[in-house]
Amino acid sequence: LHDYERLVRIYRLQPPVGFADIAQFNAALARELSQLHRSEQRPLAQSLRGGTQTERNLPAGNPLIADFFAMLDTPIRDYIARLRDHDVHPTDRRKSANYRIAGSWSVQLQPGGFHINHVHPQGWLSSAYYLELPESVKDSTSRAGWLKFGEPGFPIVACPPDHFVEPAAGMLVLFPSYVWHGTVPFNEGGRRLTAAFDVVPC
Ligand SMILES: [Fe+2]
Repeated sequence: LHDYERLVRIYRLQPPVGFADIAQFNAALARELSQLHRSEQRPLAQSLRGGTQTERNLPAGNPLIADFFAMLDTPIRDYIARLRDHDVHPTDRRKSANYRIAGSWSVQLQPGGFHINHVHPQGWLSSAYYLELPESVKDSTSRAGWLKFGEPGFPIVACPPDHFVEPAAGMLVLFPSYVWHGTVPFNEGGRRLTAAFDVVPC
């Protein structure tokens, strides 16, 4: 069902017009998101440790966030196009010509923080877009700060993660919303800033 090789897809986003490269765009978007984190902290976030998550959907009226949503269209449509037609698999069988963003937010983790394993019950496709990362993600032994898949959010069975993605700034990862995912804890090297959203067919 998880079929990570087929259903966990990585995209490198192209910067919108007016930005020299994706790093320049990320720096500008990170400033906007930082303001939201200052004003919209969610102290009782259920799946975060050592970080904050923005409370409401990202404000699409903000020009930079509108640019971000516009950048998502090509990879989302590519992901959907690659799904199988007329297939009973729970991800493929919802394949649709159109989609909408069902929710969007940002997560900021400080060293010592991590996102506990979770799923997105309201989504079809879920995501992580990386703006800033701690240096420690370059350590492929500890995998600190990496995205991990396949480990349930409750300690009932011995079921360690069985798929990892090494994040990079400017990378978008799309995956089925029902797949357990979280972040490997990291302890040093600066903040980890991401934006995320759920997609549903329509
Ligand atoms: Fe998530």
